[in-house]
Amino acid sequence: MGNGFGIDIGGTGIKGALVDLDRGVLAGERVRIPTPQPATVAAVLDTVQAVIDQAGWDGPVGCTFPGIVRHGVIGSAANVDKGWIGVNLAEQLSGRTGHPAVVLNDADAAGIAEMRFGAGRGRGGVVMIVTLGTGIGTAVFVDGVLVPNTELGHVELDGVDTETRTSAAARERESLGFAEWSVRLQRYFSHMEMLFSPDLFIVGGGISKKADKFLPRLSLATEIVPAQLLNQSGIVGAAVEAARAAG
Ligand code: BGC
Repeated sequence: MGNGFGIDIGGTGIKGALVDLDRGVLAGERVRIPTPQPATVAAVLDTVQAVIDQAGWDGPVGCTFPGIVRHGVIGSAANVDKGWIGVNLAEQLSGRTGHPAVVLNDADAAGIAEMRFGAGRGRGGVVMIVTLGTGIGTAVFVDGVLVPNTELGHVELDGVDTETRTSAAARERESLGFAEWSVRLQRYFSHMEMLFSPDLFIVGGGISKKADKFLPRLSLATEIVPAQLLNQSGIVGAAVEAARAAG
C-alpha cells in the first residue's frame, strides 16, 4: 500500500507523521507542535499545515479530532474550543492543503489502527476500544466494521458523566492511586460489559503503558488487554482511513 500521512489533533499537541500502511508503523519522524491556545479553527488549521510542511508531505491526509465527526463535520467539542461545532474540517483541510482530507474521531482512529495492526488484529465479534486520556473515547467494531462516534465515555453513571471521574486526567486531577482509580474503572467496564456483551476490550491512551498497574485489578468476564500502538494509534488510524477513502 505504500505510505500515507496521519495527523492527530489533541488538546495539548498536534502531531503528524508519514505512516507505513503495510506495517502500521511510522515511516518518518513524528512532528509535534503544541496546540495553539485558544485552539480556534484558524489557529489549528495553521498548525496542521505547519506539521504537514515540516514533515515535507504533499498528498492526501487523514486527521483525527477529539469529538464527534460526521462526514467531515465536527459535532461536539467536550475538551476543546466550542467554536469547532458545525465546522466542516475535512473541507477546510482539503481547501487548505489542496489534497483530499478525511477527518475522524480520535478514538475511532485509534481503534482502526489497533484492529488492523495491534491488539484487535484478526478479532471478530464485538470489540470495544476505550481510550483513557483527557477524556474517555470509545470505538466499537462488529466483525471488524466500525460503528463510528459511539461517545460511550460520556455515559452517565451514578449521576455523572463518566469521563469527568474516570479519565486518566481525572485520576491526576484528584491524585488517585491506581487502586482507587481501578474502582472507578471497574464500575465503568462492568457497565459497558452489561450493555454490550463484548468479546474484547482494548484499553488505549497514554496510560495504557502502565496497564499492569490497573488491568490486573479489574474483575470482568470479558477479556481486557492494553492497546499495542500506544501514542501512535491516532496517526496510524488516520492515515489508514485517508488511504481507504482515496481508494
Ligand atoms: C470526546 C470524544 C473523544 C474523547 C477522547 C471525549 O470527551 O467527546 O469524542 O473521542 O474525549 O478524546
